[in-house]
Amino acid sequence: MIRPQVSNPCAVSTAAELLALGHLVAFPTETVYGLGADGLNPKAVAKIFAAKGRPADHPVILHVADIDRARSLASDWPSNAEKLATAFWPGPLTLILRRASHVPDAVTGGQDTVGVRMPSHPVALSLLKDFSTLGSGVVAAPSANRFGAVSPTRALDVVASLGDRLGPQDMILDGGDCAVGVESTIVDLSSGEPKILRPGGISREAIESVLGMRLSQTVTDAPRVSGSLESHYAPRATTMLVAPHELLARLHGLQADQQGAERRIVCLVMNTDLARELSSLNDVIWLPMSADPQIYAHDLYARLNDADRFSADFLLIESPPQTVEWEAVNDRLKRAAAV
Ligand code: TXA
Ligand code: MG
Repeated sequence: MIRPQVSNPCAVSTAAELLALGHLVAFPTETVYGLGADGLNPKAVAKIFAAKGRPADHPVILHVADIDRARSLASDWPSNAEKLATAFWPGPLTLILRRASHVPDAVTGGQDTVGVRMPSHPVALSLLKDFSTLGSGVVAAPSANRFGAVSPTRALDVVASLGDRLGPQDMILDGGDCAVGVESTIVDLSSGEPKILRPGGISREAIESVLGMRLSQTVTDAPRVSGSLESHYAPRATTMLVAPHELLARLHGLQADQQGAERRIVCLVMNTDLARELSSLNDVIWLPMSADPQIYAHDLYARLNDADRFSADFLLIESPPQTVEWEAVNDRLKRAAAV
């Protein structure tokens, strides 16, 4: 089982050397931890798919340290790409562009487009900069979890999901908790009208205001966006999203159904009155969630991974409001609860 290394400059430069040698490096970004490989080396990219158990036709995002390198990966750099990159990079935004011919099929899943992003986490940026000197400077990285499982926002969650699937030459860099906590927003600029393929760390409103237009959200068919598979981001527990006023009744119903059986029930609750009621029940683990959508997003995957760690059988989640600032959180919750 591979152990995480604290990401000081020495560990980061070792990680860049390992990437140049074709090994895997899990590293922190501001959104979630990524499982990185040299994005221009198809054999190295294949190791990502093997470790995650991810189907080969699911494209991965390329990470770069500067806009020039992002431009070099696309055959076309539309003015909207310039606008969005200037406004939000480094940061939690991925642009889908027409691919340059040297981008490997292993990265794009054989599609004619490529996803590119410049992350803002200082460890990710220094890794990319070191790797620009030692290698291609382009790091392919999906989230560092087994395919279909919850994304990691802490090094310990990477170890739990992938620790036994990484080789002795691979590395996990520990850069603390990810600040944003949900994945990047994906904007497709590859054909005509810009589209949001996945809500995420940058809000729809912020993107619309930079582009000066309203965007409709398209739910694409898998596997263009693997996060669009219904059951993605799923904890092992049977997960239910429940309206605040129905949560207690649902809990009691579940307990009645499970009578006698040793079942672990975990509840994620925002409402403080509800939390107080749950505190009086000694056979339920309840975890408090923030009423602030950004703090909620920061905590969400950590709590879902905690539920896995507690070997929860059932996870009851109080559903947040359906307003625009909760879009990315509601998207992930819906998928976590999909069967
Ligand atoms: O925040 C993030 O984006 C994180 C960090 C590590 O950067 N990465 C991440 O990667 O979430 P992953 O592989 O778990 O999700 C990337 C999504 C997938 O749903 C994939 O299908 C989509 O991006 N994607 C990548 N390239 C694409 C392309 N050319 N066209 C459409 N979707 C693409
Ligand atoms: Mg993922």
